Amino acid sequence: MRNLNSPAATTKGNGERKTPEDCTIVIFGASGDLTARKLIPALYHLFKDQQMPPDFRVVGFARREKTDATWRQELRTALDQYARSKPVDEKVWQEFAAKISYCQGDLTDDAAYKKLETQLTEFGSGPLRENLLFYLAISPSQFGEVVEQLHRAGLLNREGRAWQRIVVEKPFGHDLASAYALNRELTRYAHEAQVFRIDHYLGKETVQNILMFRFSNSIFERLWNRESVDHVQITVSEKLGVGERGGYYEEAGALRDMLQNHMLQVFALIAMEPPVSLEAEAVRDEKVKLLKSVRPLTPAEVTKQVVRGQYFAGNVGGEPRPGYRQEPKVKSDSNVETFVAAKLFVDNWRWSGVPFYLRTGKNLPASASEVRIQFRPTPHVLFAAQCGNLDANALTLRLQPNEGISLRFNGKVPGMSLGVRPVRMHFSYDSEFGAYTPEAYERLLLESMLGDATLFIRRDEVETAWQIVDSIRAAWQNQPLTNREFYAAGTWGPVAADDLLAQLGHTWHEPQIK
Ligand code: BG6
Repeated sequence: MRNLNSPAATTKGNGERKTPEDCTIVIFGASGDLTARKLIPALYHLFKDQQMPPDFRVVGFARREKTDATWRQELRTALDQYARSKPVDEKVWQEFAAKISYCQGDLTDDAAYKKLETQLTEFGSGPLRENLLFYLAISPSQFGEVVEQLHRAGLLNREGRAWQRIVVEKPFGHDLASAYALNRELTRYAHEAQVFRIDHYLGKETVQNILMFRFSNSIFERLWNRESVDHVQITVSEKLGVGERGGYYEEAGALRDMLQNHMLQVFALIAMEPPVSLEAEAVRDEKVKLLKSVRPLTPAEVTKQVVRGQYFAGNVGGEPRPGYRQEPKVKSDSNVETFVAAKLFVDNWRWSGVPFYLRTGKNLPASASEVRIQFRPTPHVLFAAQCGNLDANALTLRLQPNEGISLRFNGKVPGMSLGVRPVRMHFSYDSEFGAYTPEAYERLLLESMLGDATLFIRRDEVETAWQIVDSIRAAWQNQPLTNREFYAAGTWGPVAADDLLAQLGHTWHEPQIK
């Protein structure tokens, strides 16, 4: 029997997505924030844009007592707040809402899964009962139980004519050992190919564009190596502080919250070799290979190559912000990092000796994510006498906001002198394509219904990323933060981060904010 858990091609010849097969999406953790804020708005927009399967159902599973009608009403209210396009189209909503139902139950209770099974069977014996997407918007500690129960209830199978898939989100473990254990739990009753691990950065248009940009343009890929590139800077800065998430953040810190996943993903896409095809396995093979080529960090190298920081009270955009240690649910002597900057080297033929600087932090002056490829300076400074040191060329991929790409080069200042100064060529998504910015979750939900895992993290990918992060964390163990690692809220991070780049004569590039 053909195992339909491994999908056929999911694009039509013209690059458009195929329509997914009829299916039911079961959301565990249906009363939670993610469901109301992201999942239902994303499904509503997919439906509105006619991207959903010809027929589908959405079943919310959670412990609280609710009727279908009350759950729909709650979701409708939330949609007013979270829909990407407003106002909500009432006619579309009514049609969509008719496909939504609620299943009350406890995750640990066998009877609840029986009830779920009965509810699904009421949809008939066809694809709505058999093609099932289980979205686990619940704590990772509950994944194992849910997967086992689903299997026992006959809802999750490895083989068969239909497909069943599990979608999970970060945090995917807190170190290699726990991620490994989670992976074992998830694959006890499902193949790896049925597990879709989300990193919402991969759902962003601009992050997806990294591969298109690199491999559909011959002019840049030729320069994409140690011969031409001096260094690379990847910045994901956030204006927000930790706010109400102190409890979670005390366990995570910037290293686990951002670097282990989003930043290493962007880094892998920027630095990987061309895949043999755009099939999920080919792309993910290259990302894993890249992550495995990152030079391992000994504790002594961590001290030199990785910097952490923590904000103290300051001002962001004129707004006063408390220090991290004063945030709710944060220990008053916490050493948890709200900023991290790392210098990584990739030991392969293409990148040998080229530093990749990654930095992320909270309470920085701007929210901006970008990748800057800084090219080598010209070998002979012809214009030194007239212009002093010229800026090196740089290509900036602006991931968010003001999505776009800019190339910086030097040009003659018009006039009789030989003055030269940097100028920019700029492509903006907005001006080129208009303001169509689908939410990351729309794309990710669509891909998981289609069974295309390209934008999801494979088991070995998540484990390799943890290996990198674990070596850093081990070196920080029991080391209190030093003075050079604190920064005032509203500044670009600690002095130690500048020291890190100064080692090789580099400086951080501050993202341009409109
Ligand atoms: C999440 C982190 O994964 O990503 C948050 O837990 C962070 O701390 C967020 O704020 C950033 O995502 P985005 O899409 O706003 O850049």
